[in-house]
Amino acid sequence: MSPSSSPKFKNPRARHNFQGRTGSITGVGAYVPTRVLTNSDLEKMVDTSDEWITTRTGIKERRIAAADEFTSDMASKAAQRAMKAAGVTGEQIDLIIVATITPDMVFPSTACLVQQKIGARRAAAFDLEAACSGFIYGLEIAQQFIMSQTYDTVLVIGAEKLSSIVDWKDRNTCVLFGDGAGAAILQNRANSHGLLTAVMGADGDKSDLLYMPGGGSRCPASMESVSGRLHFLRMEGKETFKHAVQAMVKAAKETLRRCEVNISQVKCIIPHQANRRIIDAVGERLGATPGQLFVNLDRYGNTSAASVAIALDEAVNSGRIQRGELILLVVFGGGLTWGAALIEW
Ligand code: UT7
Repeated sequence: MSPSSSPKFKNPRARHNFQGRTGSITGVGAYVPTRVLTNSDLEKMVDTSDEWITTRTGIKERRIAAADEFTSDMASKAAQRAMKAAGVTGEQIDLIIVATITPDMVFPSTACLVQQKIGARRAAAFDLEAACSGFIYGLEIAQQFIMSQTYDTVLVIGAEKLSSIVDWKDRNTCVLFGDGAGAAILQNRANSHGLLTAVMGADGDKSDLLYMPGGGSRCPASMESVSGRLHFLRMEGKETFKHAVQAMVKAAKETLRRCEVNISQVKCIIPHQANRRIIDAVGERLGATPGQLFVNLDRYGNTSAASVAIALDEAVNSGRIQRGELILLVVFGGGLTWGAALIEW
């Protein structure tokens, strides 16, 4: 039985498909910078080793944007690839959502800069900040606009230049992150495949586990903030790890429960690419087989909001996913924030 003819999607809690309107992903695209920074490169920069990074995280290398290459540049390149795949022109886009914690500037939004670069003159545009969970938050917002009949074509992008906020003297964090962008076009497709449901969550009580102290209204840039290294991200790795596993499992289970889908029916699970050990623990607790898990963090590290967006593009374009199959996205990040989404491709 194909997923769309299965009675499981008659469940009203699989609420996406409201009055026949579904946000269907009609095109995906990704872009990563050309410069590769390997673990052995990092051995020359901080007191670390390829062995430590590989066994503790699964990361082998990451991409680093050029000095004159910004988040909006990477976002626009990913967007143009998604638009080409969907057969959509800039003029057809109604809304642009850019999920990022590394905007080009505090304002205007990176989404406005992307709008100009891709010639989407009709589109409304805004940035969304949900750290590594941003792409799923963006998909869900796009879906809501489509279901409410406000918009027909929405561009959702996850893009980061994390190398600009990483402390290259802190071995605890600098080995983990990379730059890149991924994008998806969501369009109204009546009674078709699409985003079946999404779960989003947050816990501001734990905002101090992963954050950047400087640069906002609490601590604007000053000589002191720069010398105190407050414009770099900080993370309590061990605590974050624990919460990541718990929250990702819970969100994924809720998503499957709503749609009355068993994990074995999911073709591909695309988790946030932060740590191989987190991915394996989440997979195990969901009862998934290793073959269901999509992993590319060995090549890109943690690209925050771009992470699952890049992975989705790779999974689709490598032929890992065929139309009609089920994909489970599951994310976790600073905030804390988390989310999961079930997609009938
Ligand atoms: O994207 C948002 C979500 N992010 C995450 O979910 C990340 C979650 N956290 C993690 O992935 C892991 O906690 C880390 C990879 C960050 C760290 O792994 P860990 O197994 O939790 O290591 P740890 O922080 O407990 O550090 C163990 C040791 C420490 O040394 P001592 O105190 O035992 O002597 C660290 O100083 O490893 C040391 N260490 C390193 N050694 C070599 C930390 N970083 C490095 C390094 N190279 N790069």
